[in-house]
Amino acid sequence: MHKNFWKELAEKWPISALAPMDGYSDSPYRQIVKKIAPETVVFSEFYSADGLVHSKDLQRKALTHDTKEYPLIIQIFWKDPAMFREAAKIIEGYGITGIDINMGCPAKKVVKSGHGSSLMINRDTAFQIVEEMSKAVKIPISVKTRLWWADHALLTEFCTGLQNAGANLITVHGRTYQQAFKGSADFTGIYDLKQHLSVPVIGNGDVMSYEDGMKKIIHPGGGEYKNLDGFMIGRASFGNPWCFLAGDYEPTLAEILETMMDHGALLWKWKDRKGMMEARKHLVQYLHGFPWVKEYRTQLVHVESVEDIRKVVDTIKGDHKEILKQKLSAYNPESSMAVWGCGVD
Ligand SMILES: Cc1cc2nc3c(=O)[nH]c(=O)nc-3n(C[C@H](O)[C@H](O)[C@H](O)COP(=O)(O)O)c2cc1C
Repeated sequence: MHKNFWKELAEKWPISALAPMDGYSDSPYRQIVKKIAPETVVFSEFYSADGLVHSKDLQRKALTHDTKEYPLIIQIFWKDPAMFREAAKIIEGYGITGIDINMGCPAKKVVKSGHGSSLMINRDTAFQIVEEMSKAVKIPISVKTRLWWADHALLTEFCTGLQNAGANLITVHGRTYQQAFKGSADFTGIYDLKQHLSVPVIGNGDVMSYEDGMKKIIHPGGGEYKNLDGFMIGRASFGNPWCFLAGDYEPTLAEILETMMDHGALLWKWKDRKGMMEARKHLVQYLHGFPWVKEYRTQLVHVESVEDIRKVVDTIKGDHKEILKQKLSAYNPESSMAVWGCGVD
């Protein structure tokens, strides 16, 4: 993939992306999203550049993928440019579409070590990282950051520096480092940024669905201002990969159960028993919004095999035959896609 990848994709407006999420955006999750919404660009969970350089085992686990995931972006974090550069070469060797640099993680231990959000204030290091990586590989380099440290006054200056150093795309989560996950995401600073950059800009934070993303990337000031190039969805996709489809698509219960089976089977194939431990949280999230989910929770959080998942799915099918072909909102008008998608049971 070449450095113009993001610009060319932005021309087909909008870019719709799955957010990098530790503990979620692994290959099975990305494959499920791509199966349902093939136009989505999927970002991986973050991996340490140092880990990728020094551990063949991590390389295999993090970078082995299915070609159906393309375009696939691998996100990495660390602090020193040389390590980023070496990791970039390894990632490129695996045929990955692009590399994203984490400059937004607010977790205390990440920031204390000079990674993630701390790069927003160690600007020269941040610029050097981008420059070295851009020169070392042919694939595009992007950065995911936040509004900045305490407010968004310096966001444009910071991101202009990243662009000048060679970044091909900037994604901004509309919260500051100090906010972490508190309050609601604010896109005002992201619209301002877009007016000043020539590389595409993606907005992130509290986007609930494709249609919500479309509303949020349009500049409220009207046609004389540039709109954002795309949106990225994170938490709203938990148990709801349909959120990436245009038109507020709602699956039927039968589709949800089939996707639970698919997801479980992929987790088993890619991660074996560990995959089953991870499947438990996803399975419960798929059924969030159905008032009877509690009845099956105990079984769902104890699955040890694909067979166990099949048993619960068959029980639900038997118990709720009459609503299998119904959409959640028809069955439970109190529920909306928004409420459902955000469920972390
Ligand atoms: C469980 C979880 C793990 C996350 N892991 C990462 C990560 O590895 N890299 C990253 O840049 N952001 C990470 N984030 C932040 C998301 O990418 C995204 O910026 C944030 O959730 C806001 O978007 P949302 O409101 O659509 O969820 C994570 C968020 C969550 C909830």
